[in-house]
Amino acid sequence: MSLSVTLTINGAVQTVVLEDPRVTLLDLLRERLDLTGTKKGCDRGQCGACTILVDGRRINSCLALAISHSGAAITTIEGLAQGDALHPVQAAFIAHDGFQCGFCTPGQIMSAVGLIQEAQAGDDPERVREGLSGNLCRCGAYAGITEAVLDAQKTMATAARREAA
Ligand code: FES
Ligand code: FES
Repeated sequence: MSLSVTLTINGAVQTVVLEDPRVTLLDLLRERLDLTGTKKGCDRGQCGACTILVDGRRINSCLALAISHSGAAITTIEGLAQGDALHPVQAAFIAHDGFQCGFCTPGQIMSAVGLIQEAQAGDDPERVREGLSGNLCRCGAYAGITEAVLDAQKTMATAARREAA
C-alpha cells in the first residue's frame, strides 16, 4: 500500500509518497527530505531533540505520524533564518553560549520559538525553564539557554513594537 502526504515545509509545498503509513514526521524530514537539522535523540518523546512547529505549535516529531498531519504547515530549524539573517532566537543562543555540543540545540531553539509565540513565560526565568522542560541538554547548557530565550523575547517584543508604531 502506498499513500502520499502533502505538507508545507518551511514555506514550500511538498508531496511525499509513503510506503508505510507509520512513517513519523521526524523520519520523513530526515530520511526523505534531507532536513537533518531536526535531531533524533530518544525517538520516544523523552528528550525534545526532534521539536518542530506544526501549524505554529511545538511538537515532538518522533511521536507524530506524517500521514496524520497532511495539509499542515511545518517549520523546522532550517526554516528560521531569512537568508543570512539569523532568527533572533538563533542569534541569542550564539550570544549567550546556549549550547556546547549542539545536538539538542535545534530542538531547544524550535521549542523556544514556540514558547515565545505562546507568550506564556513572560520575563520570568523559572517559567522559561518550565516551558522548555521537555527539552533535555546532556551538556547542561541550561543557564545560557534560559538567558538566550529571555533576551530573544525582549528583542522580538521591541521589533514588534517598532513595526506597530
Ligand atoms: Fe523525539 Fe527525543 S527524539 S523526543
Ligand atoms: Fe550538548 Fe545540549 S548542547 S546536549
